Amino acid sequence: MNKDFSNHVVHKPVMIKEVLDWLAPHKNGVYLDATFGSGGHTRAILESEPECTVIGMDWDTRMLEIYGKSITEEFGNRFIPIWGNFAHLYKMAKEHKLNNLSGILADFGTSQIQIFTGEGFSVYNDTVLDMRMSPAYQKITASYVINKSSAEKLREIFFQLGGERHAKKIVHAIELERLKKPIKTTGQLANLIEHVIGPTKQHLHPATRVFQALRIYVNHELENIEAFLPAAVRALATGGRFVCISFHELEDRIVKQFFKEHEAILDIEILTKRVIKASPEEIALNSSARSARLRAAKRSDKK
Ligand SMILES: C[S@@+](CC[C@H](N)C(=O)[O-])C[C@H]1O[C@@H](n2cnc3c(N)ncnc32)[C@H](O)[C@@H]1O
Repeated sequence: MNKDFSNHVVHKPVMIKEVLDWLAPHKNGVYLDATFGSGGHTRAILESEPECTVIGMDWDTRMLEIYGKSITEEFGNRFIPIWGNFAHLYKMAKEHKLNNLSGILADFGTSQIQIFTGEGFSVYNDTVLDMRMSPAYQKITASYVINKSSAEKLREIFFQLGGERHAKKIVHAIELERLKKPIKTTGQLANLIEHVIGPTKQHLHPATRVFQALRIYVNHELENIEAFLPAAVRALATGGRFVCISFHELEDRIVKQFFKEHEAILDIEILTKRVIKASPEEIALNSSARSARLRAAKRSDKK
């Protein structure tokens, strides 16, 4: 991790107005922000309703240490920081008595701070090829995956998680390269991919899709969401709101499917009949909002 972890880079929280509209914080409400990050959404909730409490969870300890501290200084005991992986919410809910919550927010993916100051996330920063969001608690790095996985496994990761059409060619080049020397840095991998597939038509770096796929794989991002969603519904009070923001089609598909299935078994009522996107005004100010997709539901009467 670079030394300037907390400096210079700012994560702009997306769709703040929409989050507040759908979460509808109320007096004495207790909310879980399952992806605290640098606390932008937590702060918005705390400011919008002066008599509510927010539990801020993140599995990146640095987020809680740095940004959790400043939110605590400002909001005192209305903010409760909790370290943890939201995939383990069932267990954590028991430990921390997280039940009958008034609302839960999840803003999936990585924060801009992790991308630009963490190791291995950005194709533009030449760092160690790491990509672990919670390095203190995860063993497998992106470099390990690239150097040790079979060609078939790499093709599957790049194609399924990144939609990379040139997966076969890229994996072939990786196989040749790693026979000579291990691939240990983002620069090595990004240059190799650029060399193999050349420039893309869009303004994206040619290695973007592979980097995204590796990040999702290393951090088990989709599996974590799958484990989190049912535990989140359970932790809500009747009428409690559940708001999810996805940045990737695969994440949004999991949320959409889950909401449909759980509406069918009367666990929840879907509030957003169509997916909600950021406004053109927000996208003009924050290009990361372009791919944000928000869905909201309400906990139905507990059976
Ligand atoms: C898009 S950022 C959230 C930004 C936040 N809403 C804000 O306003 O600053 C996603 C955050 O979720 C955290 N995260 C990702 N996967 C997680 C997981 N499985 N459990 C807990 N936190 C996770 C990341 O460490 C990151 O800080």
